[in-house]
Amino acid sequence: MPESQSVFPRHIAIIMDGNGRWAKERGLPRAQGHRAGAESVRECVEACSELGVEFLTLYAFSSENWNRPKPEIDALMKLLERFLKDKTGEIIKKNVRLRAIGRIHLLPDSCRKQLDHAIHASAENTGLTLILALSYGGREEIVDAAKRLIESSSPEDLANLGTEEFARHLYTSEYPDPDLMIRTSGEMRLSNFLLWQLSYAEFYITKKNWPDFRRGDLEEAITEYQRRHRRYGGL
Ligand code: FPP
Repeated sequence: MPESQSVFPRHIAIIMDGNGRWAKERGLPRAQGHRAGAESVRECVEACSELGVEFLTLYAFSSENWNRPKPEIDALMKLLERFLKDKTGEIIKKNVRLRAIGRIHLLPDSCRKQLDHAIHASAENTGLTLILALSYGGREEIVDAAKRLIESSSPEDLANLGTEEFARHLYTSEYPDPDLMIRTSGEMRLSNFLLWQLSYAEFYITKKNWPDFRRGDLEEAITEYQRRHRRYGGL
């Protein structure tokens, strides 16, 4: 268990990477790696909820993931749909509020319906907010925000625009910026994830592939976060 509650991360964001490598190491199809990854999702959501993390954002499908072979995209969408179908009851029981960010309208209808259902069914929950980044890209989000901003602003508003006003047009306007960003499978990249919001986040990179990342690993990342001293560019 992490020791100090005083610097406990309110918001954790995770790049869940390495499902494919996990499967390859075992001579299994990639889809099986994603299925094992869904079990890590379940466990990390449960752990965050029990530890009192307020927000958890998971990079579940990026804008770039649309470039994967169609069978893999279909398998990921089916897995997401099944996950939502199977876990909505548990989400509600655990007082988790589900949300989504990204170009959600691009998801297949059946998947989007399941997502909308889970979001509505959990809307009044007051525990962990679980935010799924789906068809999400950080650059796309900034472009979408700029378009919305221009549509709703006068020339005077635009002349006086500051970072806080701009952030109000991002998909994440209702949430605080992540304090801690975890990436699995050892890559040192942001991969178009929350480009604006991660400006001051602490990064924790582990070599473990996502399907091997479980509760103990999450607690280790939180403990490491608590050891760091955040200065926000000051002294
Ligand atoms: C990266 O592994 C992972 C993804 C592209 C998708 C993440 C999806 C899941 C964890 C499955 C289910 C999600 C939910 C929310 C139920 P990769 O395929 O890029 O792995 P590789 O880099 O080793 O090939």
